[in-house]
Amino acid sequence: MGFKRDFAWGVASASYQNEGSRHADGKGLSVWDVFTHEEGRVADGYTGDTACSQYCLLERDLDILERLAVNSYRFSVSWPRVLPSGTGRVNQAGLDYYDRMVDKLLERNITPFITLFHWDLPYELYLKGGWLNRDMPEYFAEYTAAVVNRLSDRVTHWITQNEPQCYIGSALENGEHAPGLKLGKKDLFLAAHHSLLSHGRAVQAIRAGAKKTPQIGYAPASWWLWSPETERAEDIEACRARTFGTEDNPIGGTAWWLDPVCLGRYPEDGWKKYEAYMPSVGSGDMKLISEPVDFLGMNIYQTYVGRAGEQGGCITVEREQGAPRTMAGWPVTPQAMYWGPKFYWERYGKKLYITENGVSGQDWISLDGKVHDPQRIDFTHRYLRQLRRAAEEGVDLEGYFHWTLMDNFEWSTGYQNRFGLVYVDFASQRRILKDSAYWYRKVIETNGENL
Ligand code: FCB
Repeated sequence: MGFKRDFAWGVASASYQNEGSRHADGKGLSVWDVFTHEEGRVADGYTGDTACSQYCLLERDLDILERLAVNSYRFSVSWPRVLPSGTGRVNQAGLDYYDRMVDKLLERNITPFITLFHWDLPYELYLKGGWLNRDMPEYFAEYTAAVVNRLSDRVTHWITQNEPQCYIGSALENGEHAPGLKLGKKDLFLAAHHSLLSHGRAVQAIRAGAKKTPQIGYAPASWWLWSPETERAEDIEACRARTFGTEDNPIGGTAWWLDPVCLGRYPEDGWKKYEAYMPSVGSGDMKLISEPVDFLGMNIYQTYVGRAGEQGGCITVEREQGAPRTMAGWPVTPQAMYWGPKFYWERYGKKLYITENGVSGQDWISLDGKVHDPQRIDFTHRYLRQLRRAAEEGVDLEGYFHWTLMDNFEWSTGYQNRFGLVYVDFASQRRILKDSAYWYRKVIETNGENL
């Protein structure tokens, strides 16, 4: 027994990282459109103005999906394409793009998985205070309803938001991501609370408006995750506790987001420590935030290894000198793909998709005209084996989405990190399938039997 027979095998992407076409067809600006044009924000001063030009090359890119033999594609909708000001007038021309995308995916027997928010907040909402504005949940529900109204006769899989740890944490706490703020704790916890409420309102809007029974999920970052160094019970327990602990870094962690969504409460340890910074949480808030979801998405890249400390607690195991790292400098930790799903499944009891996993490489076109990326193959092979182990032990795993289809704009690192299964020559917009793309196709064709 390995992966389920109807396992979703896919690739994931995000609007700002791929689409380009900053102003096309009435699109409004997002915080990323503005941030990337500020000096010193992105490595080498690059922007996503063009990126992979997917907005223009849609058909060509969907043909590539077909060549990969994926049965699912996760992409995000750009909020300011749909509502240029974030609220108010709906731009049907922007929605047309996603409408075409959905039709063309279905023609190819590929199931669309739509992420409603992958960080490109409408700039005009930022001017209204962004996530600090108490109306954000309503704006997000309004936007969600517009997308659902147009696409839910064909789309059934919805992910409300991607990685709040990044668009709240990295964006508002340490300023690395758009809009590049460094807020104090009180503002951060308020923004986080509004983000959670927005998720809840989106779940309601999807259920209220969907023309076909929806499957709704939420995809936080899962890098705050400790895998035990050994399988001794005390190491496992210590790692589980630290994975869901919130005292060190509540906003960057997991439980601050998933406990409210799945358990209807903020984590007790974090609440005790940070209560003074918390906004007042109204009586209906936790009910709204915990509107039932159908699945959780896990984005698994780099994680930690831990062991039980002599005096209790969980000690992070230092990595050996020279231990494998990706191009982005991220440690390679395949065991997270077993322990992560297992821990989430035990705590939250929701079916799981791996909504992202992948590796950045220093890929280039070789003299033979091909792109050889053995590290990506080996990396993915290792992670997928661990995932299979989790599936074999009864964790309800529904699918795996590799990050990403093609090299794209990697946020503040610009184009330094190539994460694609497909190489993009950004000057000509030519695409070349890397060795890993052919390898991944075999994995899909055998439903992971060849791993
Ligand atoms: C994740 C993001 C995704 C991409 C990968 C490498 O944190 O969700 O957009 O940048 O990292």
